[in-house]
Amino acid sequence: MTAGGMFHAFIRLIVRKHTTQSMTGRDIVTGFAGKTILITGGTGTFGHAFLDYLLQFDFNEVRIFSRDELKQELMRTRINNPRVKYYIGDVRDRDSVDYASKGVDYIFHAAALKQVPSCEFFPMQAVMTNIIGSNNVIEAAISNKVRKVICLGTDKAVYPVNTMGMSKALMEKMVQSAARGQDQTDTLIASVRYGNVMCSRGSVIPLFIKQIKENKPITITEKDMTRFLLPLNHAIELVDYAFEHARQGDIFIKKAPACTVGDLASALLELFDRQNEIRVIGMRHGEKMHETLASGEELRRAEDMDDYYRVHLDGRDLNYNKYVNEGDPLESAAYDYTSENTRRLSVEEVRELLLSLDEVQQELHEYMSAPDMSQKVHG
Ligand SMILES: NC(=O)c1ccc[n+]([C@@H]2O[C@H](COP(=O)([O-])OP(=O)(O)OC[C@H]3O[C@@H](n4cnc5c(N)ncnc54)[C@H](OP(=O)(O)O)[C@@H]3O)[C@@H](O)[C@H]2O)c1
Repeated sequence: MTAGGMFHAFIRLIVRKHTTQSMTGRDIVTGFAGKTILITGGTGTFGHAFLDYLLQFDFNEVRIFSRDELKQELMRTRINNPRVKYYIGDVRDRDSVDYASKGVDYIFHAAALKQVPSCEFFPMQAVMTNIIGSNNVIEAAISNKVRKVICLGTDKAVYPVNTMGMSKALMEKMVQSAARGQDQTDTLIASVRYGNVMCSRGSVIPLFIKQIKENKPITITEKDMTRFLLPLNHAIELVDYAFEHARQGDIFIKKAPACTVGDLASALLELFDRQNEIRVIGMRHGEKMHETLASGEELRRAEDMDDYYRVHLDGRDLNYNKYVNEGDPLESAAYDYTSENTRRLSVEEVRELLLSLDEVQQELHEYMSAPDMSQKVHG
């Protein structure tokens, strides 16, 4: 067999191995039976995957809430299920959120502006969507007696250096503030926090693949920059876990491995059997060398739940005198949980993880099936 043939066979084997994995890798629960569920930002990467997950359950209705009718139309055509209803609206517009929240049991709040550069250049847009919009969702949930709200947050909200992270940090603060005002039997409001979803909109992986295929240099920011690596199904698992276990104001974090951006580029080059130049272009506006999923202060009041951390609500009241006089020994710092000190994946492990993703499998399949494949493999 030629080198190209062996490589092709290897990829086919790995692809087959990974496609049999289940969506979340755990047993299906029945918590959604008969319930009406609202997903804000339901046409996004998370929304699509979460709806696919929910379709396994016997729910009453899922409402997909977002602004763009074309994305909704494409989703309606793909899903073709009468129990899924589509609501045009904008989280900035309280009336539209209120309307979509009537009769709803659970809300998953995913609508957001999430690209760092766009939020950096248009910060008020991030304020209006991520802060005011999130507040509208929380208030509509409380006034419509929704039972549970899970808000989706990001690692960029910890020690934020960019508008996107700052606005999502304020979303978390609003969740906690609202949760302090609720009893356990009222609307339960909690959030999750996760790092870059591999292959989601705006992820570098599709960009690197495009550059590899076009035989262009792979443009990386800094070789040693680290990022958490999270497949989309792990984000779904996290949200599902938070849904099942959350108490008022909790933040759930899924522990995740990380890799350097240089190793990510190398792993993709190995997968595609290419030797494109790796060109370092420097950090973009508002980027950090390493991301943090939980600060040391949060970890001091967090519960370690094996694959997850539960950061409990800081439920202290406004009686600050008590704290000035008595102090709080628990507040002394511990270590942050960062993409630098979490488990670091080797190039080989990154390659394996990449191969577990449908999107990468698809790209590889198309690449391997192209007529000039033999030339590509021998480069
Ligand atoms: N992807 C990641 O790597 C990542 C990492 C950590 C956290 N998260 C968080 O996970 C959540 C979902 O992310 P995603 O990857 O699914 O994002 P996405 O693919 O960009 O989808 C965003 C969704 O929000 C909708 N939307 C945006 N602005 C809206 C508004 N003003 N009112 C109503 N809907 C609006 C969009 O539809 P329209 O444009 O049609 O309105 C779309 O359905 C976000 O909160 C994000 O911060 C994502």
